Amino acid sequence: MNDFVRINDVGPRDGLQNQARILTPQQRLQLIHALVDAGVPSIEVGSFVSPKAVPAMAGAAEIVTSLNKAGINKSAYLQSLVPNQRGYELAREAGSQAVLLVVCASETMNQKNVRMGIADGLAQARDIIHQAKSDAIDVMACIAVAWECPFEGKTDPKVVLNMAAQLSEFGAHELVIADTIGAAMPNAVHSLMKELAAQQSGQALACHFHDTRALGLANVYAALEAGIRRFDASVGGLGGCPFAPGATGNIATEDVVMMLQQMGFQTGIDLARLMAVGQLAGEMTGTTTGGRAHQWRSLQLQKSRL
Ligand code: COA
Ligand code: ZN
Repeated sequence: MNDFVRINDVGPRDGLQNQARILTPQQRLQLIHALVDAGVPSIEVGSFVSPKAVPAMAGAAEIVTSLNKAGINKSAYLQSLVPNQRGYELAREAGSQAVLLVVCASETMNQKNVRMGIADGLAQARDIIHQAKSDAIDVMACIAVAWECPFEGKTDPKVVLNMAAQLSEFGAHELVIADTIGAAMPNAVHSLMKELAAQQSGQALACHFHDTRALGLANVYAALEAGIRRFDASVGGLGGCPFAPGATGNIATEDVVMMLQQMGFQTGIDLARLMAVGQLAGEMTGTTTGGRAHQWRSLQLQKSRL
């Protein structure tokens, strides 16, 4: 059994983009540094999007530059979301070493998110991936609303399989399969991830779940059973997409790490320190939950310190 599971904390981007309280780049940097100190190996640090569309993500260049200057990019895998060519260029200028592209598996959702249809989104992804290759920048490609769309209902798995095949062929380094609104059922997660794993030839596959229907951990388990060893999660369970009505927070990194550790997987993350980061995120935003098992974990922590 491959017992290392790589957690990518998307709190500083997915977690913060939709909060009522907007954090300064300095606060977001503090959060990212704290995540790295807790041993989180991979972090989505921000997005190069229009500050008019997502005001909470303004200052991404400052964040990337500062992290690189501090050498954080050597101890953790840092990536930034880019919605278009312009965002890619800004990310490259700031010194990003990895970018995340998002293509939605439904026409309506892709229009709402980046104002273009799926075919244009895929063509844009192809161009950016080719450009990134010559710039030596990694591209992670996310397929959003992979199980269900808030506007078009259930997603046909064939659409996702087809998009995944194209994005792999373009040369994406990793595919992130996202349940953007937290509507996927574990059996559907298992079957789609199994099919994707069989179809992929060497490309890394990751899953991204939201906890809207309290099925986040069940879905992580279903994906683990299908062989997936990479998961997005958000410290404190922060999250929500401004363009997808009904989406609540991501699965809390604390919950995922707790489950993985107790199942015997390695994550390299210090859970006690991670919980302190969740607390910090909560103080900063005034909204975080700290995950579903927060009380139980806090009790264990107190006992171990007695
Ligand atoms: N970064 C910063 N500004 C950008 C930008 C980028 N990546 N892309 C476009 N802009 C600016 C343009 O300069 C223009 O500014 P202006 O009004 O001051 O002239 C404005 O945004 C509109 O530009 P346009 O080329 O017409 O873009 P658009 O309207 O077709 O698309 C998006 C705008 C998609 C880039 C914008 O809606 C966006 O950033 N959305 C965020 C998507 C997102 O983060 N989703 C959640 C995660 S999946
Ligand atoms: Zn998300």
